[in-house]
Amino acid sequence: MSDWPDRRLIDLFGIRHPILQAPMAGASGVALAVAVSRAGGLGALPCALLSPEEAQAQVEAFRQAAGGPLNLNFFCHTPPTPDLAAEAAWMAALSPYYAELGLDPEAPRPAATRAPFDDAFCALVETTRPEVVSFHFGLPTAGLLARVRASGARVISSATTVEEAVWLAERGCDAVIAMGFEAGGHRASFLTDDMSAQPGTFALVPQIVDAVDLPVIAAGGVADGRGVAAALALGAAGVQVGTAYLRSPESLVPDFHRQALAAARDDGTAVTNLFTGRPARGISNRLMAEIGPMSAAATPFPTAAGALAPLRSARPGPDFSNMWAGQGAALARESGAEDVTLALARDGLARLARLSGRPRPA
Ligand SMILES: Cc1cc2nc3c(=O)[nH]c(=O)nc-3n(C[C@H](O)[C@H](O)[C@H](O)COP(=O)(O)O)c2cc1C
Repeated sequence: MSDWPDRRLIDLFGIRHPILQAPMAGASGVALAVAVSRAGGLGALPCALLSPEEAQAQVEAFRQAAGGPLNLNFFCHTPPTPDLAAEAAWMAALSPYYAELGLDPEAPRPAATRAPFDDAFCALVETTRPEVVSFHFGLPTAGLLARVRASGARVISSATTVEEAVWLAERGCDAVIAMGFEAGGHRASFLTDDMSAQPGTFALVPQIVDAVDLPVIAAGGVADGRGVAAALALGAAGVQVGTAYLRSPESLVPDFHRQALAAARDDGTAVTNLFTGRPARGISNRLMAEIGPMSAAATPFPTAAGALAPLRSARPGPDFSNMWAGQGAALARESGAEDVTLALARDGLARLARLSGRPRPA
């Protein structure tokens, strides 16, 4: 069961299977991380929607329930300076929905909540000492990164192009996540805004493998043993899996999101910037259909979310809510996260054995 042909991530992180649970802010928490860890994968806690105190409580809960290593995940965007004209334009684009729901566009709105990695989060890393720290949207400042490394954590981040992978390798990452265009959630891209040119996993993984002398983790569309075997055949040392866990009881997504996942098809997702201002892949819904999934009016990440909050409160459900998911959404099964992880490992190994002509593992 642990007969993996490439042991680089197993040794680097101290895990049994080279399967990383994708940190999924808002969609995953302690229960999912513990379940994946128990199965021998790398459990992750996303911190982008948490305060440092909430994150610390989650790390402690994970440590009490699981013996395995932990990946603590942070966004590292630069918050934009407020721009009243841009905010007015975004409100104007949403005004028909405010009118439909009888909402006052002048009423105070909540501020955007996605927080970047900063001194307080870095202090949390130094105190709680996760084995792995992962970043989305590049890396933090050199000073913060040096402190993370000094804590003893392995550092990983996502690349959506070869150029981004080389940039991460040059700054000392221990492994690189190759995030193909199929992937659910925010595009990790930080050196490009051009979504029309983002490569898919099948093209991206071998090109990053060729370009950097680091273990590469394939992400995007890996949802069962076939995806695991394909990723390793392309030269990846392991996989990061998000969407395949979203229907597990441990996932935190609301019922309407679960129903959309259960009904998902191969062509049911799109990359949209409407919900936060940054391109992200999610299940297509009414807002995306009516405004178009990408809008020049959406204010920069993460502020676009603020203007949507009253719509989401007034009408909870799929119309105005992001339902992040990757192109493999229809492959997600309604199984516990421990079973999903064990199946990824078992079926992935069986497929690899079949491809290499070796006898199948028991
Ligand atoms: C619901 C959801 C939320 C996500 N949130 C984060 C996050 O907070 N941090 C992060 O590094 N990646 C996040 N991602 C991206 C994942 O790390 C990963 O790249 C992606 O799930 C892989 O593709 P897949 O969904 O096809 O498995 C998210 C993905 C999803 C589906």
